[in-house]
Amino acid sequence: MKKKTAFFCQSCGYESSKWMGQCPACHEWNTMVEETVTKSSGSTNDRIKNSIDAPRVRPATLASIEMVSEDKITSGIGELDRVLGGGIVKGSMLLVGGDPGIGKSTLLLQVCRNVSGAGHEILYVSGEESLKQIKMRAVRLGDFTDNLKLVSETNLDTITDIIINTKPEMVVIDSIQTMFNETIQGAPGSVAQVRETTGVLLKIAKTLGISIFIIGHVTKEGAVAGPRVLEHMVDTVLYFEGDTKGAYRILRGVKNRFGSTDEIGVFEMNEQGLREVKNPSEFMLSGRPENASGSVVTCCMEGSRPLLVEIQALVCDTNFGFPRRQATGTDYNRVNLLMAVLEKRVGMRLSNSDAYVNIAGGMKINEPSLDLGIVMAVASSFRNRPIDESMICFGEVGLSGEVRAVSQVAQRVSEAERLGFKTVVLPEASLSSVKASDKIKLIGVKNLVDAMELI
Ligand code: TYD
Ligand code: MG
Repeated sequence: MKKKTAFFCQSCGYESSKWMGQCPACHEWNTMVEETVTKSSGSTNDRIKNSIDAPRVRPATLASIEMVSEDKITSGIGELDRVLGGGIVKGSMLLVGGDPGIGKSTLLLQVCRNVSGAGHEILYVSGEESLKQIKMRAVRLGDFTDNLKLVSETNLDTITDIIINTKPEMVVIDSIQTMFNETIQGAPGSVAQVRETTGVLLKIAKTLGISIFIIGHVTKEGAVAGPRVLEHMVDTVLYFEGDTKGAYRILRGVKNRFGSTDEIGVFEMNEQGLREVKNPSEFMLSGRPENASGSVVTCCMEGSRPLLVEIQALVCDTNFGFPRRQATGTDYNRVNLLMAVLEKRVGMRLSNSDAYVNIAGGMKINEPSLDLGIVMAVASSFRNRPIDESMICFGEVGLSGEVRAVSQVAQRVSEAERLGFKTVVLPEASLSSVKASDKIKLIGVKNLVDAMELI
């Protein structure tokens, strides 16, 4: 074994032999930090020679591999199971990322409560809080059984020993950035530490069939320290997002080896911890203003689930020669582009107006079907005419001002119907993919000029 140092990008885990001001992989500045690495010595040739002496592994044919349906343990939280694709797979490794204070520890403690209540043995390892602090939190979350064991520890060797001796079915590591491995140089949270520690845990998960949840903090740049490295290694990556000051939280699947990735789970934080929001559309639309211009409801798809959201726009005269534009919850450049289309194709003089576009409720959405809603909201605010409250609209807008077809139209229409909307404005080309119903009126629009007549 030979000791050497290398420079690692703290944002994406890129490794380089020399220092650089900017990381060539993720283009972040000043993120390269020198860390000691222990590399096994020996050239590729030596390794090939050694492997010839090693016991042979025989490749298998697909037909010879036995099928076992993955054992899934339900987390007892419907919204989490949905994101996981049914439940927690035995022997899988899951990464839960998110900003500090968003509710990662709370969520996992609630999972521990449900899963240990169902008779499974769990070990909760906290490197951040003392046992007393965890107890204080747990008291607010309800009753726990003795199947849950807690330990406040950061030394990986000690943790490994405990896991091997007690053989729990599930382990929670809170958080990976506080754990350290004595054989690796470098402070806890450094790329080398995070990677090596995860590697050891991964081996435990796969060989002993223990499901391991790893909590990882997101740094200011929006990535868990050394996250790319972690994302490859684990089976499932979930990110918890939302405004820490607002009440609701969104759990988003980013990677999932056992299910689909674009499902989201919606939660609300209250005094008893996180509560599932079963009806996110209703939640997102609560508090909608009455008869206000610049407000329109649209329907976007989050995985297999349609979600109604309100788009708000405020257009006002600009005070300085240069108009101000702002987009909250959606793509700023897209908003600028749509306003240019409105100006050119509809003849709306927006170049002397400031415009602010906001997705109410704090959701972040970047789906093309949002275009028509943004355009309608901006036009409604510009003309100061409210849009019919019982109407929703969706559709992609092209550069010639045409309204283009979107996918999963039937689901969107039925969600609008379920929530009592009376009219749906949609691309004309999408009309054929949805059955007419007498409960809801469908208006197909070909281009923005058609759509503007509805305001
Ligand atoms: P926490 O799970 O500690 O966040 P993380 O582990 O992601 O850093 O969440 C902490 C926040 O949640 C804290 O601001 C208090 C709030 N909270 C509640 O509002 N209700 C509760 O029942 C609990 C346990 C926490
Ligand atoms: Mg925490």
